[in-house]
Amino acid sequence: MEEELLRLKNEATASLDSLNKKEELDTFRVQYLGRKGQFTTLMRQLGGVSPEDRPRLGKLANTIKQDVEKAFAEKQAALFGVASAGKPVDDLTLVGRRIPAGRLHPVTQIMDEVCTIFERLGFEVAEGPDVELDFYNFEALNIPQHHPARDMHDTFYISDNVLLRTHTSPMQIRAMKTRKPPLRMIAPGKVYRCDSDITHTPMFHQVEGFLVDKKVSFGDLKGILSVFVAQMFDKDVAIRFRPSFFPFTEPSAEVDIACVMCGGEGCRVCKQTGWLEILGAGLIDPEVFRMVEYDPDEYSGFAFGLGVERIAMLKYGINDIRLYYENDLRFLEQF
Ligand code: FA5
Repeated sequence: MEEELLRLKNEATASLDSLNKKEELDTFRVQYLGRKGQFTTLMRQLGGVSPEDRPRLGKLANTIKQDVEKAFAEKQAALFGVASAGKPVDDLTLVGRRIPAGRLHPVTQIMDEVCTIFERLGFEVAEGPDVELDFYNFEALNIPQHHPARDMHDTFYISDNVLLRTHTSPMQIRAMKTRKPPLRMIAPGKVYRCDSDITHTPMFHQVEGFLVDKKVSFGDLKGILSVFVAQMFDKDVAIRFRPSFFPFTEPSAEVDIACVMCGGEGCRVCKQTGWLEILGAGLIDPEVFRMVEYDPDEYSGFAFGLGVERIAMLKYGINDIRLYYENDLRFLEQF
């Protein structure tokens, strides 16, 4: 029996060395290690061995079987990546997992599109800080402290003098204070207001635009904005200029486009008016020119500030602005 066990061990080890394929390994396991395999068959014969030899031969048989099992597991691991402890490790032959491609957030896409349209019209792009001084956000824009116009913006203050900018208009001042006319600029960026409902979020994006030169008129503003709306919305979306008030422009207007949700009939999104406001605009107030030491008798200019999320809502037919900021991939992946 002892000889038989040693012979079986040598035969199994030699045979294992020559195996390369999965089917061959399976056959080996059945032939040697399975319930009806050669080791089991041999070990069953232990019952017929004399009682004094039985413990020694039993131990030998177990040791040999364990050695062969170990060699088998190692061979399997070497060939197919199954660890000797029997735990699966990485299967290098598996097809790789696809990493989903990232994409730009819809608001970023629209922001880029807006900038491209104005860049083609000759506007240069400038960026400024989100954390702004009261002076640039209000004071220099003809909104002194305690002026009721400050109520138009629900401001997040950091200290008495420092705040999160409520609009991109401070960029008009920053640019005009450091440059001389002619100026033709846009300033895209984040702005903040304590405001939240289906058409307002506490953080949103604006693109400011301004042009300063000699003899700039309201007609130039209307022309530029009409070109912009026509290029942004492929179809002939109706557009209207509505008289309005901003302390830093005179005259001032708000520009609305026909509500794309209801086609102008009136719905929840346009608050039954049929129109959605996309931007505020006007001719730069002479008072602002004085603040930046431009001569209002020599120069005139227009400015506008548009809400990027609003444009994105209209363009994509989204009826709740908050969807843009819920980070739901099912929503974001559609753009
Ligand atoms: C302004 O912020 C002025 N600075 C715009 C301006 C610039 C006027 C230059 C004249 C000259 P207003 O507060 O209306 O204006 O905001 C401009 C646009 O931002 C709005 O038309 C709207 O589209 C968008 N908007 C305003 N508040 C929110 C908000 N909470 N969430 C999303 N979009 C908003």
